[in-house]
Amino acid sequence: MTQDELKTLVGQAALQYVPAGALIGVGTGSTVNKFIAALSAAHAAIRAVSSSEASTALLRAAGIAVVPLEQAGELAVYIDGADEIDPHGHMLKGGGGALTREKIVAAQARRFICIADASKQVDTLGRFPLPVEIIPMAAARLARQFAALGGQAALRMSGGQPYVTDNGLHILDVRGLRITDPLAFENETSQWPGVVTVGVFARQKASCCLLATQQGVRTLQ
Ligand code: 5RP
Repeated sequence: MTQDELKTLVGQAALQYVPAGALIGVGTGSTVNKFIAALSAAHAAIRAVSSSEASTALLRAAGIAVVPLEQAGELAVYIDGADEIDPHGHMLKGGGGALTREKIVAAQARRFICIADASKQVDTLGRFPLPVEIIPMAAARLARQFAALGGQAALRMSGGQPYVTDNGLHILDVRGLRITDPLAFENETSQWPGVVTVGVFARQKASCCLLATQQGVRTLQ
């Protein structure tokens, strides 16, 4: 199977975690796009809180009602992809730039179901550049702070301009980190002035990970 087929497989497998008629949280990215397609094909009578403008557009196009988080109570489940996932369910996320809203929506859900293909599984987080959403004026100072941890931070660019998130902010991508204690790392760096969100999800780790492999979908609890 190609990586795209693996994403389709795991997107379909996630349907079993969606209770009938539920209000669920939906993440962002190419794997989640497959989940949205599966939801649409299943004609599931669900409503969704979305973590990005991109997912909102796809959900609406699929005929799924999108509810603002402000009007939602607890979500039955939050389903999202990851750039990396470690054996404890800690994730590195934000490759699609939606990390802040992803953390917010995930915080309101009973369970976080991570959907990914096997290439995302790592022993230690940090091979994928760590996305950090920041207040733009803090970029240079935060780059120095990450350098002190051994990381090389670069402003994410798009079309020759700094990439702008759905929140109107910028992203630093930090290479060269080896995040051996994700919880301590998230707690520490989240406090740095100018950091809005770090892409380490350790406080809100996955309750369960569905991992698409050539042998089928494995469930890691
Ligand atoms: C977006 C994310 C995505 O979940 C992550 O980048 C994985 O994306 P994909 O499914 O396209 O590999 O965190 O901000």
